[in-house]
Amino acid sequence: MFTSTSALRLASRRIATTSTRSVSSASSSTATKVVKEGSSRYANEEYLRKALPLLLASGVAIVGASQLSSNNETSTTTLCRSKSSNKVEAAIQQTKDKFAKYWPRNIMILFGPPGAGKGTHGPKIEDLLGIPQLSTGDMLRAAVAAQTEVGKKAQAVMKAGGLVSDDIVVGIIRDRIKEDDCKFGFILDGFPRTLVQAQALDKMLAEEGASVTKVIELQVPDEVLEERICGRWIHKSSGRSYHVKFAPPKSMQVGDDGKPIAESMKDDETGEPLMQRPDDTASALVKRLQGYHNETVPILNHYSPNGIVKTVNANQKMDGVWGEVLDSLSRK
Ligand code: AP5
Repeated sequence: MFTSTSALRLASRRIATTSTRSVSSASSSTATKVVKEGSSRYANEEYLRKALPLLLASGVAIVGASQLSSNNETSTTTLCRSKSSNKVEAAIQQTKDKFAKYWPRNIMILFGPPGAGKGTHGPKIEDLLGIPQLSTGDMLRAAVAAQTEVGKKAQAVMKAGGLVSDDIVVGIIRDRIKEDDCKFGFILDGFPRTLVQAQALDKMLAEEGASVTKVIELQVPDEVLEERICGRWIHKSSGRSYHVKFAPPKSMQVGDDGKPIAESMKDDETGEPLMQRPDDTASALVKRLQGYHNETVPILNHYSPNGIVKTVNANQKMDGVWGEVLDSLSRK
């Protein structure tokens, strides 16, 4: 159905590479410790085999252990080139496959109106948990930019602030969550947006015995959203979100009229130009909010009986919001 699968995959915010990067720093110290405590012990395949599930359980082992040979060249010089290294890698793969097959996936929905902070906090959750954030908005924008069939269908309705048809977005998500980087879980941003989409999601997850594990609702009154939306600038390829007042890029310069100079708006990390979304206008926001209250909010009632909905006060400074998001993620 979708000829644009690879474009869509590329568009979803920071996919497998991010998961790798996000767990690698946490994992390297653990992995280093294991090696430094005794390469002879580490060479003991049985020891590692027993340790791996524990490391995996904390979400750090897959990359960390596979990096041992590169990050700890000195300690593992003999090990890397030995047969046991291959056995270790096989054991890692075996354990990884086992967890992918039998462990429940962490499936969460980042929920909230336009401008609530889904795109602001989603990447931080992604970094924390090492699972990808899947933004249907980003995927659709990539499809529009690439002028795929899906993109052509979605373009006008998105610009006006309406909702793209359920079958298109359900199809996108169905394909995307089958990708390898989603096997331990994923964060949905902007999906589901209607009850029909929520039911379709539940059905596709039920087919593998899975279900949504958490819904994090970012609550913000409508009145504050216009300022957030109209002041937003984004870095197209990464999805990084800036704001002229609340989160300005380091490069921002202000003109005599008090407004930011467009040419000075650059991404902090890459130095590439930032852009404003065509639907980030006051008039499109009215329609987006209507859609949110009428079509999307009822989804909360759909998931509430499962006890998985956590509400966060997103009408406070970003650090405060992030603190509450962290609380809502924890098992307590
Ligand atoms: P989508 O891309 O999903 O847009 P959205 O839901 O409207 O959400 P936004 O991305 O606008 O808001 P956000 O919560 O990510 O805000 P951010 O963190 O950037 O969807 C776009 C369109 O695609 C839809 O309208 C629809 O047409 C279509 N679509 C997508 N999914 C669909 C689906 N499932 N079904 C049908 N159609 C679909 O924050 C905003 C700004 O505020 C930023 O500048 C940020 O710096 C700032 N900010 C954030 N937090 C704070 C804070 N605490 N204090 C001050 N400023 C803050």
